Amino acid sequence: MPQLRLQLAAAIIAVAGACSAASASFDLNEATVDAIQLGFKNGTPTSKQLVLFSLDRLNPLLHGVIEVNPDALAQAERANAERRRSPFRCGHPLHGVAVLLKDNIATRDRLNTTAGSLALLGSVARRDAGVGARLRAAGAGILGKANPTEWSAFRPTPNGWSARGGQTLSPYVLSTDPCGSSSGSAEAAAANMAAVTLGTETDGSILCPASKNSVVGIKPTVGLTSRAGVIPISPRQDTIGPMCRTVSDAVHVLDAIVGYDALDAEATGAASKYIPNDGYGQFLRMDGLKGKRIGIPNGFFTEEIYGKKQLRVYQKHIALIRKHGAMVIENIGIAKNLTEVQNVLFSNEHTAMLAEFKQSLNAYLSDLLYSPVGSLADIIAFNKAHPVEERLKDFGRPYFIEAENTNGIGPVAKAAIQLLNKLSDDGLEELMKKNQLDAIVTPNNDGRVFFAIGGMPAITVPAGYDDQGVPFGICFGGLKGYEPRLIEMAYAFEQATKVRRMPSFKH
Ligand SMILES: *[C@@H]1O[C@H](CO)[C@@H](O)[C@H](O)[C@H]1NC(C)=O
Ligand SMILES: *[C@@H]1O[C@H](CO)[C@@H](O)[C@H](O)[C@H]1NC(C)=O
Repeated sequence: MPQLRLQLAAAIIAVAGACSAASASFDLNEATVDAIQLGFKNGTPTSKQLVLFSLDRLNPLLHGVIEVNPDALAQAERANAERRRSPFRCGHPLHGVAVLLKDNIATRDRLNTTAGSLALLGSVARRDAGVGARLRAAGAGILGKANPTEWSAFRPTPNGWSARGGQTLSPYVLSTDPCGSSSGSAEAAAANMAAVTLGTETDGSILCPASKNSVVGIKPTVGLTSRAGVIPISPRQDTIGPMCRTVSDAVHVLDAIVGYDALDAEATGAASKYIPNDGYGQFLRMDGLKGKRIGIPNGFFTEEIYGKKQLRVYQKHIALIRKHGAMVIENIGIAKNLTEVQNVLFSNEHTAMLAEFKQSLNAYLSDLLYSPVGSLADIIAFNKAHPVEERLKDFGRPYFIEAENTNGIGPVAKAAIQLLNKLSDDGLEELMKKNQLDAIVTPNNDGRVFFAIGGMPAITVPAGYDDQGVPFGICFGGLKGYEPRLIEMAYAFEQATKVRRMPSFKH
C-alpha cells in the first residue's frame, strides 16, 4: 500500500516537472499560513508549488499520509487562476492552501475514507464532510488523507497503527509511540508534509499526538465543528479540530471549519452561540495571559509521572505564565482521588461508547452512496474473512463484538451517560466555576477524559523535549465555548516560549 501511494506522488511530481525551483526565494519549511498568503500575493510560492513541496516532503518511513489526492495539483492550479482573476475575492487565509484530513473525514472525490480499515476501501460518500465542505468553500484544497489509528479511539490496536497505512512514527524520535489516533495528521504537520491538517478527538486523539509531535492541537467544544460525514465513535464526545505548527495557523483553520450544519443540527445549533462575530483571529494576543485565572489541579504535574527534569521545565512554564500576568491557583482538586475517578470515568465512557459506536457507525454506513460493508456486523465479518491483513490475531477486536451486542442506547448505556454527566458537572465544571477559572493547565493530554466527557475544549502547545528528544506539551482546557480565552492564553504562551523546533528523525 505505501508503495502505491508513493508511486502516485512520484507520478504527480513527474507530470508537473521539477518542483524545487520554487522554494529558492521562499522557504516553505515551517511556513505559516500568513507567510504563505503573503507569498501568494507576491507571486511565490504559488498554490501549486505549495502542493509540490508537500509531495516532495512525503516520507514513506513515517506512514503519516495514507493517500494523496490525485486532484491536488488541479485544485491548486484552479486556486492560482482564481487569484489572478480576482485577487480581492480570494481573501480567505486558507485560499489556495491544501489541507490534509484524517482518514475518517469523508470526501466526495477520488480519495477513500476508511478510518484506516480495509473494510471501507472503495466506499463512496454522498458528499464532503461538513468540515471539508467548509474548507472547500474557503478556497482551500484537499491534499490527501492522514493515517489514523484504525477505527480511531475505539480500538485495541496500537497507537498510530492501521491495516491500510501501517505504523505511524514520530518524526522526532522514530522509536517512540506517536500516540493516537490523529497521529498521521500531527506527524505530517510536524514534518512539514502538509501546511495544515485536521484531526478528530473522542478522548485524547488530538491532544495526545499533537503533544507527542510538537504541534498545536485544538480540540473544539463538541458541536462547534460539524461531525457530519466523519466516521463516528461517540456523537456525545466526537469533535474535529486543527493540528498545526502554530497557534495562529490552527486558529485560521478553526475559523474556516466552525459553524452550523443542518446534517449535525442539534450539536452545531447548540454550539453556534459560542462563535464570535469576527472570528477567532482577534484573540491572537501577545498579552493574552494577562488577568487570566488559571487553575493547576492536583495530581497531574508530579515527579512520579514526569521525573525531576521535565517537572522543572513545567514549573518554569508556570512561573512564566504568572510573570505574564495570570493569576495561577495551585493545589485545587478535580477529585479527591484522581486515579479512582479517572478509572470510573474511563469505564463508564467505555460502556456508553459501545452503544453509541454501533448506532452512529451504522447510521454513517447507511448514508454512504456505496459501501462494501453496510453495518458493524459486516465489518466484524470482513475482519474475520481478512485476519492476516487486519492482523486479527495480534489486535483482536473484542470491543466490536461487545458493541455489536448492544441494542440502541439501552438502560446500561443511559445510566453510564447519566453518571458521566453528573461527574462532569460535579468535577471540572464545579471546580472552574467555584474558582472562577478561565482555564486549567495540565500536561500533554492528561486531562483528556475530563474535557471529553464534558464536551469541553482544550488546546495543547509545544512545551519541551525530554532527554531523548521526545516532545511534550502543555494543555489549556476550559468550559464549553471558552475557545476565545484559551486561544489568548495558548498564543501568549507560545509567543513567550517558542518551544517548537523541526524534527530530527532520530532513531
Ligand atoms: C482508493 O482505493 C482504491 C481501491 O479500492 C484505489 O484503487 C484508489 O487508488 C484509492 N484512491 C486513492 C486516491 O488513493
Ligand atoms: C486512589 O485510588 C486508587 C485506585 O482505587 C488506589 O489504589 C489508591 O490507593 C487511592 N489513593 C489514595 C491516596 O487513597
